[in-house]
Amino acid sequence: MKIVLLGAPGAGKGTQASRITAKYNTLHISTGDIFRANIKAGTEIGKLAKSYMDAGKLVPDEVTCEIVKDRLTWEDARDGYMLDGFPRNLFQAEELDKFADIDLCLNIDVDIDLLMDRICGRWMCTCGESYHVSMLGDSRVCPKCGKPLYQRADDNPETVKARLDTYFSQTAPLVDYYREQGKLVSVTSGAGSPDDVFVQIVKEFDKRDLR
Ligand code: AP5
Repeated sequence: MKIVLLGAPGAGKGTQASRITAKYNTLHISTGDIFRANIKAGTEIGKLAKSYMDAGKLVPDEVTCEIVKDRLTWEDARDGYMLDGFPRNLFQAEELDKFADIDLCLNIDVDIDLLMDRICGRWMCTCGESYHVSMLGDSRVCPKCGKPLYQRADDNPETVKARLDTYFSQTAPLVDYYREQGKLVSVTSGAGSPDDVFVQIVKEFDKRDLR
């Protein structure tokens, strides 16, 4: 299956992507992770991306679309994938339709009031796990692997506000874009734990016989 994962910053895209990957063995491709890896490696793409990410803005479409287009040609993407954080505006969605045949858009819908706290309270581990500060007590080491946790450079209130503005002005319209294509599946991530949200996702996938 070829899935687009849509949702505001902090909606739980990464959290659910790791559960979906574990259950359905789907390849997870996150444009945010690709940009962060480039920043860490000091590449030209990383230098460019950092200035936009620090400002809570979208990295230019030409760069982003080219990266995704190339990534989808890799052997491991032949049988399907889950795109997390792409597309993020109408231009990217229309470009994606030119080089991929998306089966389904999974939209994680969350009350905006929850997002700032979720993101500013997020602690990450290099093993891929992320935690909310309320789950950690005084500890800042990963409960799963024991490595030190860290916070993302763009997880501060000022940048999060800009990221949310970018989401509502540019990305949220994609909900209608995929609804009109008959590909939209929405789940709600406000009322329950990550596991509760995943139960909703599995039910939706089962209805469509996706596995
Ligand atoms: P990206 O890395 O994609 O970040 P984002 O969309 O802002 O989303 P986040 O990773 O912050 O949140 P998430 O939805 O994954 O939530 P998570 O599961 O971690 O993009 C970063 C930047 O890169 C962009 O701003 C842009 O500059 C650039 N970029 C990326 N893609 C681009 C593109 N296509 N075009 C141009 N630029 C692009 O959860 C958040 C927290 O909440 C965690 O602590 C988690 O434990 C907790 N949580 C999750 N679910 C629940 C729940 N149900 N209940 C309670 N807590 C929960």
